[in-house]
Amino acid sequence: MKYINLIVIMAAIAAIVSCQPQNKKSTAKNTTIPNRKWWKEAVVYQIYPRSFKDSNGDGVGDLKGIISKLDYVKSLGVNVIWLNPIFASPNHDNGYDISNYREIMKQFGTMADFDTLLNEMHRRGLKLVLDLVVNHTSSDHRWFKQSRSSRTNPYRNYYHWWPAERGKPAKRYSYFDVDNNAWKYDSTTNAYYLHYFARSQPDLNWENPKVRQAIYKIMRFWLDKGIDGFRMDVIPFIAKDTTFPKLPAKYHGNFVHYYANGPHLHDYLKEMNKEVLSKYNIMSVAEGAGVTVNEVLNFINPSRHELNLLYNFDAMRLGLIPGTREVDPKGISLVDFKEIYTKWDSVIDDKGWGTIWLGNHDTPRMVTHWGNDTPEFRALSSKMLTTFLMTMRATPFYYFGDELGMTNIKFDSIKDYRDIETLHEYQHLKETGGNLKKFLNNEKLVARDNGRTPFQWDTTRNAGFTTGHPWLKVNPNYKTINVATEEQNPNSVLNYFKKIIRLRKKNLVLIYGKYTLLDKENPDVYAYTRVLNGEKVLVLLNFTTHKAQAKLSFDMNKAKVLIDNYPSLPSSGMIKDFELRPYEAVVFKLGN
Ligand code: NOJ
Repeated sequence: MKYINLIVIMAAIAAIVSCQPQNKKSTAKNTTIPNRKWWKEAVVYQIYPRSFKDSNGDGVGDLKGIISKLDYVKSLGVNVIWLNPIFASPNHDNGYDISNYREIMKQFGTMADFDTLLNEMHRRGLKLVLDLVVNHTSSDHRWFKQSRSSRTNPYRNYYHWWPAERGKPAKRYSYFDVDNNAWKYDSTTNAYYLHYFARSQPDLNWENPKVRQAIYKIMRFWLDKGIDGFRMDVIPFIAKDTTFPKLPAKYHGNFVHYYANGPHLHDYLKEMNKEVLSKYNIMSVAEGAGVTVNEVLNFINPSRHELNLLYNFDAMRLGLIPGTREVDPKGISLVDFKEIYTKWDSVIDDKGWGTIWLGNHDTPRMVTHWGNDTPEFRALSSKMLTTFLMTMRATPFYYFGDELGMTNIKFDSIKDYRDIETLHEYQHLKETGGNLKKFLNNEKLVARDNGRTPFQWDTTRNAGFTTGHPWLKVNPNYKTINVATEEQNPNSVLNYFKKIIRLRKKNLVLIYGKYTLLDKENPDVYAYTRVLNGEKVLVLLNFTTHKAQAKLSFDMNKAKVLIDNYPSLPSSGMIKDFELRPYEAVVFKLGN
């Protein structure tokens, strides 16, 4: 009996200790920081499981592959892994079409592999966040098969149906449909079903309480296994006005904002929080598609009891022609970029907590889009962007491969693409006589497959990703951009990433410090300070290929360089004049 008591007490102590945020060795006075949370201090590393490491030679990454590389992930210094969906799926949208929420996708392994992965991660002090995809299921999900079988089936109301005798339903746009139409006619019951994404991704009917309860059960299933949180796929889209009125004119060409503002959205999130999230010490992060800066606090203000975090898309429109996926030859305005991040910081302020990211599985590679992927500037601009991500007041979400400076693959032929978005858009243009050449050129810059190519481990065949035939081509630049080579080079993008994570962890000012934008109108330099309990840090980032100067007036005599992305430190003259070399990133600790 005593032995059992001792175990209970030890487990309780372990639980209390594990809830404490890290950074024990930090320089700041911890006691004065309110509302510390582990997920505010974490760096999240996103792994696209299909492309990380293949253990069985079938050309597709898998869970055993991830397990074999956990020491690498740990060596980076990150705290959390977010895995894109790993559940049973026919893979029309690479796992974002789930056919069974309680089974692991066969290509990725088994539930036993999952349990090992979770144990091995926790043993190393790494937390696991899974992707919760509950706006829609796969059309292969048993619920949908039942639902479509007859109008009186008990699962009929798990999805949105529009009986054909009422005429055509009001226009709704779809992301991945060849006809851009989110309603698909189904002859079995003479009705249309709604799918905001592909036809094989029917939208669940959240207005049905049975659906919500079924989803909460799935969430508990994974949380009770011990996972540490959820990234919630297009969660703002879940609520719908089921009368399906005509889409108001202002939303044509901008329908994402309509989709993200359904009538009972926040009632559902509050209910989810009450029934599930509030019962666990976990992290919940909304994919905030369609959510504007004016709405963010509705999701993340702790007093509302909904979610912890939301990652926003505001900056993602920069560099594109408005309302399209077409790259704007005018490029990206740094002044606009600064304005977006500054606005998000000021609105969130101390009323919640932000996120920061520049690449994921839906975007081109960070360095190609935001930096410069030419041999001259690839490494420097990668490090500069990483400096930005690691010095903002928000939880960084960092996409695998960006720590190596991986670049867009820029396929020449449509045959090389695997992504439903590119393939369907191509098909649509072909059928409607669009300009295919122009489209393919643009896809080199924006297509999602650019960010999904296999991870580059070493210089062996297929970059050490697989012994088989990779599901998506490996970027030929793997001979120079890979883990093995970069680990040997003290100045590599990889080693810089490790170094700046250590710096962030050691200096709580970089996590919690107040952010102030400086020299706002400077078109070349992003300059800001972070201040916490008397400590002041200055961050200077040159976003250009030429030398640039910030207009500032600090006394730099006592300033100390905390990190710089050039192998040589800036001269004292450059420091005094706030002058930066091309793509230079430098972080100073300012003297008092
Ligand atoms: C957002 C995901 O990030 C994307 O990859 C997916 O295609 C859509 N949601 C649909 O689930």
